Amino acid sequence: MRLMIATCNKHKVEEIKKIFWNNHSLELLFKPDFSELPEVDEDQDTLEGNAIKKAVETAKLTGEWCLADDTGLEVDALDGAPGVYSARFAGEDATYTDNNIKLLKDLNGISDRTAKFACVIALSDPDGNYKYVRGECPGVIISELHGEEGFGYDPIFKPDGFDETFAQMSSEDKNKISHRGRALALALKEWNEILSKTGKRQI
Ligand code: IMP
Repeated sequence: MRLMIATCNKHKVEEIKKIFWNNHSLELLFKPDFSELPEVDEDQDTLEGNAIKKAVETAKLTGEWCLADDTGLEVDALDGAPGVYSARFAGEDATYTDNNIKLLKDLNGISDRTAKFACVIALSDPDGNYKYVRGECPGVIISELHGEEGFGYDPIFKPDGFDETFAQMSSEDKNKISHRGRALALALKEWNEILSKTGKRQI
């Protein structure tokens, strides 16, 4: 089965490729495979809303089955912020470093550092019928940046049960426990029947 992955983020593409590597029935397509595909505006106020919107709009535009994700970091002491606004936490054009620094500033002096990454993955058929799953990874926000791997908030996020941040882990180790790894594993399990079909089976 052909499956379009609706993300341009090269880090996510690499993670998704590695996790789907063993599922040989899938032929993965990526946004650069389609010229002039417009960006989908991520204007919903939940991760579910954005993931479904991206999957459905891209599936309808390309005529392919499409998988999309939306991810956020939810910090307990900040009432779940930055959440769905994780990419633009420090402003519209914020870099990953800007966002990390703003988060460390906002948490300065706060002892409750618990947080979790949440990743929602939506699957849409070419007609816009969809399903979604959610994967989560609990952890804590440390007080300075550690590690060079990964992306986004990885240098300040230490998953529960580990002494290293995501940015200090290999991508293989991160994928085993990460929000996206868990959501993709759930997606492969729950949608196994759909994903292993070659025909145009409806969701
Ligand atoms: P997106 O909207 O799903 O691309 O994710 C929003 C933001 O969350 C990104 O800009 C990153 O800062 C952050 N993010 C998403 N996934 C991860 C991850 O696996 N590790 C660290 N940060 C992430």
